[in-house]
Amino acid sequence: MNEKLAIYPGTFDPLTNGHISIIKRALKVFDRLVVAILINPNKTPLFTLEERIFILKDIFRGEPNIEIDSFNGLLVDYAVKKNASIVVRGLRALSDFEYEFQMALMNRKLNRDIQSVFLMTDYKWFYISSTIIKDAARCGGDIKGLVPPIVNEKLKQKFGFSKD
Ligand code: COA
Repeated sequence: MNEKLAIYPGTFDPLTNGHISIIKRALKVFDRLVVAILINPNKTPLFTLEERIFILKDIFRGEPNIEIDSFNGLLVDYAVKKNASIVVRGLRALSDFEYEFQMALMNRKLNRDIQSVFLMTDYKWFYISSTIIKDAARCGGDIKGLVPPIVNEKLKQKFGFSKD
């Protein structure tokens, strides 16, 4: 069978319901999805790579079509290594477009065999980003319903609001 494999790359610091919306949509289009956490030298993440891998593996436990992995270096090189020719990205508002367009064109310049595919994030998650979630959680704001329960709990632990 000619299986359609796609890569969904990101920093996922932390994963939000917006990311989950894209993952679910992607699985309606592709047979398998690699959720690939970038070891990003441009960002100082709140969650270590190990913590992010743990969270994603916990959430997608029992989903045989989702692989959790990490990478550094060029996304297109990573895609080749995984034998994938499709990169999935989510679009929230028009404001995402410019950045995504720039990245897609750069990736195309680097490797013409890799296609970027954009999926729309559910409108419910249009206003959230990992940063805004962290900002609200840092000040003790209620972010229930915007992130999976495990992320909510881990954020509370990070910011000292956990009852445990
Ligand atoms: N719902 C909610 N939020 C979303 C979202 C969604 N569906 N999709 C993205 N976001 C948010 C993220 O939470 C993140 O928020 P933050 O900036 O507050 O942390 C932001 O949008 C963008 O994050 P992300 O999707 O993780 O992308 P990124 O910009 O951190 O990384 C890579 C993008 C990994 C694809 C890109 O940096 C990359 O490919 N790097 C490898 C190096 C490379 O190949 N470079 C050359 C090509 S550009």
